[in-house]
Amino acid sequence: MNNFSFCNPTKIIFGRGMIARLAREIPADKKIMITFGGGSVRRNGVYEQVIEALKGRDYIEFWGIEPNPKVETLRRAVEQCRAEGVEFLLAVGGGSVLDGTKLIASAVHYDGDAWELTLTGRAKGRVLPFASVMTLPATGSEMNNGAVISNAATAEKYAFYTNYPQFSILDPETTFSLPPYQIACGIADTFVHVIEQYLTEVGVSPLMDRWAEGIMQTLIEIAPQVRENQHDYDAMATYMLSATMGLNGFVAMGVKQDWATHMIGHELTALHGLTHGHTLVIVLPALMSVMREQKGAKICQLGERVFGICEGDANSRIDRTIEAVEAFFRSLGLSTRLSEEGIGEQTIAEIERRFTERGVGFGERGNVDGALARKILERAL
Ligand code: NZQ
Ligand code: ZN
Repeated sequence: MNNFSFCNPTKIIFGRGMIARLAREIPADKKIMITFGGGSVRRNGVYEQVIEALKGRDYIEFWGIEPNPKVETLRRAVEQCRAEGVEFLLAVGGGSVLDGTKLIASAVHYDGDAWELTLTGRAKGRVLPFASVMTLPATGSEMNNGAVISNAATAEKYAFYTNYPQFSILDPETTFSLPPYQIACGIADTFVHVIEQYLTEVGVSPLMDRWAEGIMQTLIEIAPQVRENQHDYDAMATYMLSATMGLNGFVAMGVKQDWATHMIGHELTALHGLTHGHTLVIVLPALMSVMREQKGAKICQLGERVFGICEGDANSRIDRTIEAVEAFFRSLGLSTRLSEEGIGEQTIAEIERRFTERGVGFGERGNVDGALARKILERAL
């Protein structure tokens, strides 16, 4: 096991009716900005619950943080925070609203431009305190310090790291209104988060392995229940907690991480607007196939412990495990090939060009560069 330090300070407040707790979590004397997306919270009753909980408090509202939050929108919120002396930010919505809010919180007291800050990769100086009411289980943003920010003008999308949310309220009932496509993408995103922290080497940490496998098995078990009845409170609660546990650092202690699938996926979103979780299900099976030598032993472990693939030689077990992963994604109702989304050579060439120009090397061995990304994407056609 590798050395590590671990600290996750986010308080999770989980369950039915818990939005009412908001007032006791945010100091009474703080000027608040509540941030929202495009309006889903008005249709599912979450907005009313938040406003009721914050009755009598000094707050302003900022609407319109879009999926794959754009710096162009976030800059307006930063200006407003400065003009109105905002001291606390509350994100109400999906991962995009919270990620956007993380950048706003980091940029208010930053001298330069918010995109320039994004490109540095890390917050600098004072960051406003922030928290969330999370309505879409997927990103784990509610309990991590990451944010993924897009730039519409340049068609770019990058990860940015800052403080953790002070608290996140997770009420599974808020997810009852999710479009089935977002649920499919959310389950896929959670699965791939765990994979990115798992599918590297064998024998590094048996504890992390079992923990990761437990989350993946849980997702496979509940996916049909969630898809059949998304008003099933217990199934949605399990899905929601799985998403949080998938990317809050708990399965990453002392192990190597990959993240190449995500990095390639971000380019597909930046260039085509394809939903984040959907990009991952297209890239991952192809990446497993291209990286089968490097990752073979762990792919076999995944096959055996998560999909029950125990017979045959290593090669055929690797093949069947990759097929099982792709079949799981297709069972969610998602397409798993670039060609099904009308994406082809032009995009592959652009991603290869970008990665080569940036000199990147992703993956646990830092060897996924432009040329390898091309191979993976060609395999995903
Ligand atoms: O904007 P509104 O109207 O609120 O609608 C949203 C949006 O259209 C809707 N929605 C959210 N909760 C709902 C709901 N509709 C009905 N009922 C509800 N309860 O869903 C749509 C998608 O929302 P979005 O926030 O974009 O989805 P998600 O949570 O999947 O976030 C995706 C973003 O997070 C980034 C992705 O790259 C992408 O930009 N990620 C963030 C990570 C992190 N912070 O650690 C890690 C991830 O790997 C990921 O990259
Ligand atoms: Zn993700």
